[in-house]
Amino acid sequence: MPNSRRSGAADSVPPVPGVTLDAMRESDVEHVARIEAVSFASAWQPEHFLHEILENRFAVNRVLRRGRSILGYSSVWHLDDELKINNFAIAAEQRRRGLGRWMLRHILTAAREAGCVHATLEVRDSNAAARGLYRAHGFVESGRRRGYYQREGEDAILMAAEL
Ligand SMILES: CC(C)(COP(=O)(O)OP(=O)(O)OC[C@H]1O[C@@H](n2cnc3c(N)ncnc32)[C@H](O)[C@@H]1OP(=O)(O)O)[C@@H](O)C(=O)NCCC(=O)NCCS
Repeated sequence: MPNSRRSGAADSVPPVPGVTLDAMRESDVEHVARIEAVSFASAWQPEHFLHEILENRFAVNRVLRRGRSILGYSSVWHLDDELKINNFAIAAEQRRRGLGRWMLRHILTAAREAGCVHATLEVRDSNAAARGLYRAHGFVESGRRRGYYQREGEDAILMAAEL
C-alpha cells in the first residue's frame, strides 16, 4: 500500500514539534516567495501567490508554520476531480526532517476528501528529491515534456497518481 493511503493519528503529529499546517495568508507571501526563490530556478513572485490566494477559486494554498516562521508551503489546485500540485517546497535548512512527506500526505488526504480522484504534477528531470518523495506516495511517471524548462533546456517529468 503506498504511503499516500496511510492516514490517521500518525499524520496528525508533525515531524518537527510545534509545526502546524495552515492556510496561506496575504501576510505570508513575502516569506513564502523567499523560500520559493531559493528552491526554484523559475520562481513565482509574491504577486503570483497573492493571485492564488485572492483570485483563483481553484487554489488551495498552505504554509507550514512554527511561531512566526514559515518552514514550507504548497500551492495546489482542486480542478473538479483532479488535484494539480503546482508549488511545493520546504525551506532549505528544514529539509530531510519529514516535513515534505507530512505536508504531501495532508495535501493528498484533503484532495481526496474534496472529491479528487487523480493527481498530477510536473517536476524537473534532475530533481531526485521531489521525484523520490512523489514516487513514495504512489505517483508514477506518466510522460515527459522535452526542453520544458527553456533556460536550462531541461525536461519536465509528468507524474500522476490515483487517489
Ligand atoms: C522535495 C522537497 C519538498 C522534500 O522535502 P523534505 O522535507 O526535505 O522531504 P522529507 O524529509 O519529508 O523526505 C521525504 C522523502 O523524500 C525523498 N527525498 C527528500 N530529499 C531527498 C534528497 N535530497 N534526495 C533523495 N530523496 C529525497 C526521500 O524519498 C524521502 O524519504 P526518506 O527520508 O525516507 O528517504 C524539498 O527537497 C524541497 O523543498 N525541494 C525544493 C523544491 C522542490 O523541488 N519542490 C518539489 C517540486 S515539484
